[in-house]
Amino acid sequence: MDAQFWNELYGGREQLWSGAPNGVLVTEVTGLPPGRALDVGCGEGGDALWLARRGWQVTAIDISSIALERAAAATGALTDRVTWSHTDLTSAPPPAGPFDLVSAQYFPLPHQPDHTALRGLLDAVAPGGTLLFAGHDPAEFPPDDEHGFHPDDFYQPADVAKLLDESWTVLVDETRPRTAPAPPGTHHTRDVVLRARRGSGSGS
Ligand SMILES: C[S@@+](CC[C@H](N)C(=O)[O-])C[C@H]1O[C@@H](n2cnc3c(N)ncnc32)[C@H](O)[C@@H]1O
Repeated sequence: MDAQFWNELYGGREQLWSGAPNGVLVTEVTGLPPGRALDVGCGEGGDALWLARRGWQVTAIDISSIALERAAAATGALTDRVTWSHTDLTSAPPPAGPFDLVSAQYFPLPHQPDHTALRGLLDAVAPGGTLLFAGHDPAEFPPDDEHGFHPDDFYQPADVAKLLDESWTVLVDETRPRTAPAPPGTHHTRDVVLRARRGSGSGS
């Protein structure tokens, strides 16, 4: 799942995703005061543009140049609010933060023994800021031996939760039905959602 893989996937269709923001993002972020946001694996930009329209200052990164070209083309009058960054998060650190929101939606981050990339994302969250990490329910994601894909090779929200120390407060850690139809060509019906705030104590 390198840049070539993703560019071939995006290049094979005029538009891969709906352009609408992910339901998990809308559910979990509506109500948070806007600040600086990092959208990790932003694809064609639906989430980043939704955030920008709500007053967030967004840095959106993706490994696919084709996805980023489409996202940039859809930016319109929001150019002052969004920075599109061509980054491979497995080999480069996230853009300089800190961010009030770090959102990773269906982002395929391969396990690393030292968790460097994942720890970089956690470190990018500002004190009091939010980490939102969502994925498809791995129970609905059988291994695909033909293409060498196995969901256990990638961080799931539960893996991320295990790496959060006492300086984090987990607010949501659950599997729940998707609010939108399954992405084209898939049959996903459930999301796994982790939302955590950097810092302890009460509040939402
Ligand atoms: C399943 S898509 C999700 C896109 C978007 N978040 C959404 O929900 O519509 C995963 C995205 O992560 C990007 N991606 C995969 N590996 C990456 C990496 N190592 N660094 C940055 N982006 C990556 C892909 O190009 C793709 O756009």
